[in-house]
Amino acid sequence: MWDFKSENTKTFTHGFHTYPAMMIPQIAQKLISDFGKNATTLLDPYCGTGTSLVEANLAGINSIGFDLNPLARLIAKVKTTPIELQTLRLHIQDFDNFLFKFRYGFELKESIICPSFSKIDFWFSKEVKQKLAVINNYIESVENSDISDFFKVAFSQTIRDTSWTRNNEFKLYKMSPEQIKSFKPDPFNKIAEVLGRNYKGLEDFILSKKNDSYSRLFDVNSINSISKRKIADSSIDVVVTSPPYGDSSTTVAYGQFSALANQWLGFMENGRVLDKNLMGGIRSKRIRYFSSQVLNDTISDISKIDNNRALDVVSFYSDYEKSIKNISAIVKPNGYVCYVVSNRRVRSQKVQTSEITKDFFLQNGFGHIETYKRKISGKRMPRQNSPTGNSGEKENLMNTEYIVIMQKKSA
Ligand SMILES: C[S@@+](CC[C@H](N)C(=O)[O-])C[C@H]1O[C@@H](n2cnc3c(N)ncnc32)[C@H](O)[C@@H]1O
Repeated sequence: MWDFKSENTKTFTHGFHTYPAMMIPQIAQKLISDFGKNATTLLDPYCGTGTSLVEANLAGINSIGFDLNPLARLIAKVKTTPIELQTLRLHIQDFDNFLFKFRYGFELKESIICPSFSKIDFWFSKEVKQKLAVINNYIESVENSDISDFFKVAFSQTIRDTSWTRNNEFKLYKMSPEQIKSFKPDPFNKIAEVLGRNYKGLEDFILSKKNDSYSRLFDVNSINSISKRKIADSSIDVVVTSPPYGDSSTTVAYGQFSALANQWLGFMENGRVLDKNLMGGIRSKRIRYFSSQVLNDTISDISKIDNNRALDVVSFYSDYEKSIKNISAIVKPNGYVCYVVSNRRVRSQKVQTSEITKDFFLQNGFGHIETYKRKISGKRMPRQNSPTGNSGEKENLMNTEYIVIMQKKSA
């Protein structure tokens, strides 16, 4: 029922940009239709590229998204921002004419400035780097910020697809010398293809969007104060989110995945630093216990084998606990929260995030409605890790997802 195995997950603006562990749009859609009836505002505190924000707008509901990653916020903004299509078409045509001058006998004009961030030549051939710089210079000259952001998203996907990073990885790994030899990407062709595809997606989104619902995106000012800052208490009807699975160093490194684009776009000098700021990024100094028995048992079991890994678990769930407290305050009485989570293993010990999520919300005035189980398919995420910490020893991880549904008690 929740598997959506053969569904198209790239409809509307959903296919604008790849990202690790994206939510399946059909899940967000079903959760919104089951638990967002009559809702006016949806929140996704870990919105990533904005899957649930897009689905909320398609259902005529306003949405609010938070994410620490500036690239994710940019993508989410562009996926939920209608643009006057004729103006956009004219800009794409103008861009095409601009590139034409550089297409044949490509030679870098002096006026085109190449960035010089650390290791840029490790990740891009000279020609790709120069062509990307040409594109970047054009984008910087576009005055309309919605249009320049639309181009930036296509540019970011082009950076990823024309760099020497291995594409099926969510961490930064370089291709082998053999792969590099036969890899001849052309950034000009790539961005033209992405712009065309994204234009079509945006057109579909604009045509299908109900009423004038909109999305707002917010930065996060500290690791765990996810959403309290700008949102009034008891103002959110429904939360639909998929939080990170654990600290980024041992699960999904969103910072590494986004580093090259964050650097090209001038969002960050060193994109990898982001991983330290994501939830659980700063290791706690001592073991502590929580209001969840299942979590406490896990911490105690892991600490007997590896104290540092137990501290990683403590760090992540300390941040998680605080963010759930903040989120709980801004949900309306009788409002729902829907968390799509995975359980994982640390040093062979099962960490049951589905149960822990439930326990943390129970502590904050919510009742448990249901936990659905689904098999993961077609999602870019780590299926295997080394649970023992010894390289070479692999174990299936996160093949099942849990959708935890909680409801806030009436005041
Ligand atoms: C599983 S992904 C969300 C993917 C999203 N549902 C989508 O479809 O693209 C989790 C997100 O949480 C973000 N994140 C991690 N720590 C955070 C924090 N402390 N505050 C806000 N966002 C955070 C990551 O940057 C990442 O984008």
